Amino acid sequence: MQICPSILTADFCRIGEVVDEAIDAGIEWIHLDVMDGNWVVNKTITFGPAIISSIRERVGPKIFLDCHLMITNAEDTWDQYVDAGVDLVIAHIEAVEDFPKLIQNLHGAGCQAGLVYNPSTPIDEIIPLLPELDLVLTMSVVPGKGGQSFMPEVEENIRTLRSLVDDQISNGGRATKLMIDGGIKSHNIALVREWGIEAAVVGSGLINDKGSIANNLHEINSQIQ
Ligand code: DX5
Ligand code: ZN
Repeated sequence: MQICPSILTADFCRIGEVVDEAIDAGIEWIHLDVMDGNWVVNKTITFGPAIISSIRERVGPKIFLDCHLMITNAEDTWDQYVDAGVDLVIAHIEAVEDFPKLIQNLHGAGCQAGLVYNPSTPIDEIIPLLPELDLVLTMSVVPGKGGQSFMPEVEENIRTLRSLVDDQISNGGRATKLMIDGGIKSHNIALVREWGIEAAVVGSGLINDKGSIANNLHEINSQIQ
């Protein structure tokens, strides 16, 4: 299981140091939550390509960076994130009109393509896109802020996606990765792994006042080893 810190609960004056701390603790993948002050229900603004580009410069080429775009115009602005150095762009199905086109554009630019859906969104429209997607992210909270409670009702969708991706792989297709985001902590990490999740975003469970990132990561990993 890949643990991918979200830096949303970090002190934004210390993003660089927090990222260094995560990498020293053994993290290989960082999840960057982009909000444009419009798309999420609470109208939050986080950060955009300029900060992502600085993070890429700081961490070097080996750390995997994804950006989770909670913005209205991912279809028009995806290239800014590719230029900023992300390895994977994850866009919301609810916010994109022509998803196949976005996947094609990202792949054409040499970037991995991911799709994310909200807890209340039916997965029927996602299923035909699976063969082309590098990753599907299931939101287990309503997107907008860190520190919310995990929604266990996402289990059925994840189990369905797991079995479809397993079939896809056994037919020689793409190994679309399944990721989860929202409320993941040491107490539910083993549960979501059992559902078939391979990568988990962890924000407040890693970056908090209770312990260092290394200690928090150790506690999470101890549940899945
Ligand atoms: C929510 C973001 C998440 C969030 C995760 O809108 O997409 O990445 O920061 O934070 P926790 O793990 O605290 O729920
Ligand atoms: Zn996220």
